Amino acid sequence: MTRDMPDASRRLEHMDELVSLCARRGFIFASSEIYGGINGFWDYGPLGVELKNNLKSLWWQRVVREREDVEGLDSSIISHPRTWEASGHVEHFSDPMVDCRTCKRRFRADQTDEACPEAPSQRRVSECDLTEPRNFNLMLQTRLGASEDAASLAYLRAETCQPIFTDFKRVRESARQKLPFGIAQIGKAFRNEINPRNFTFRSREFEQAELEFFCHGSEREKWFQHWLEERLAFHRGLGFDADHLRTRPHDSDELAHYARQAVDVEFLFPFGWQEIEGIHDRGDWDLSRHSEYAGKDLGVTDLETKERFVPMVIETSVGIDRTCLALLCHAYRVETLAEGDERTVLRLHPAVAPIKAAVLPLSKKLADPARAIQSELRRHFNVFYDEAGNIGRRYRRQDEAGTPFCVTYDFDSQEDGKVTVRERDSMAQDRVAVDGLAAYLRERLERTD
Ligand code: GAP
Repeated sequence: MTRDMPDASRRLEHMDELVSLCARRGFIFASSEIYGGINGFWDYGPLGVELKNNLKSLWWQRVVREREDVEGLDSSIISHPRTWEASGHVEHFSDPMVDCRTCKRRFRADQTDEACPEAPSQRRVSECDLTEPRNFNLMLQTRLGASEDAASLAYLRAETCQPIFTDFKRVRESARQKLPFGIAQIGKAFRNEINPRNFTFRSREFEQAELEFFCHGSEREKWFQHWLEERLAFHRGLGFDADHLRTRPHDSDELAHYARQAVDVEFLFPFGWQEIEGIHDRGDWDLSRHSEYAGKDLGVTDLETKERFVPMVIETSVGIDRTCLALLCHAYRVETLAEGDERTVLRLHPAVAPIKAAVLPLSKKLADPARAIQSELRRHFNVFYDEAGNIGRRYRRQDEAGTPFCVTYDFDSQEDGKVTVRERDSMAQDRVAVDGLAAYLRERLERTD
């Protein structure tokens, strides 16, 4: 085994570096880019969609498939508008905003400490000629059908969980579940954020993976702790270092209108500690409100005690885009190598890496046997083939894409039936028999140390 360890490495310092890598390599780029983009909307390219799908599959596996007490759901994005009146979003889901009388721009009232984008010198927003704060509802609206009257108004969901509450009775009865149990879904949510920023961190269209876990009031604390620990274990399993992950309980004055208790899971981004997931005790707020607004009893009866009650809800709500962003920020390294060269590498956990292995023939003359290896391997993993450019440059391209293994087919391979497998982080190389290559890669991809 040969080794070429980097001499020095540095982490991501400025988001611009990552934004440019993501666009250049097709992870994430501005939506409608040819029209100059649209603020707060992002497209995931070939590498980005693999990263995102890997993350969603891991979540679904852990939260739904590995448990008997959680059922899955895929609801529509648009619900009956009464849903959002009952949930409190029509009334409460707003940010206090101020308008600048000079430049006519609108800012969040809690972000006036920042530099005004219109001011030539570094003047702060708070120093501008501002109106009094006014509440601005964050739900995106649309119209259904041909008429433009109030009855046609509908909302794009601001969180994925509300349909879970309105479907609670149907899912519980059809899946023959008893309390405690949960319903989970992954899907798009929409918020008319006033200041979308920090790349995908605060977007107007984003994906959430949410679990609503229904239990008796006497067990709410137990399940809150259970899910908090479970979700932290999930994030640690994605490879985040302990010093980049923390929990932050909410003060009582920052709790959302539905929450009795909340803890954020935060990640240390280059722009500071920020929330990637929220664990909330929502009490019986949602089911009680939907019972009231729909005129349908969403309570349950304990078959042993005959007690009739509205279940309490413990929620885990993780942003898929934010977690992808955290994974990319955490993985990013610029390394100075022994020969004085530099490489940019994404040290992504193999479970989320978009491409698991790249097959690289040393010469185009070796394309046929190398293609045959790729065809065999792609039955197991997402495998890329690249024969363009010198081998060093091809390694660098895969390092930037976060590919854990490169498989090189050389002229000796034809004689000894072996290939060189290079590992991304250590750049250590191993000679491996083609016959056992898929098993070898699987074992190394699944290794957790
Ligand atoms: N159902 C509860 C709920 O929606 P939230 O704290 O508003 O709670 C949960 O959102 C998660 O959704 C956040 O931790 C974050 O990861 C993600 N999220 C919320 N707003 C977002 C936005 N504008 N852009 C990207 N992700 C967002």
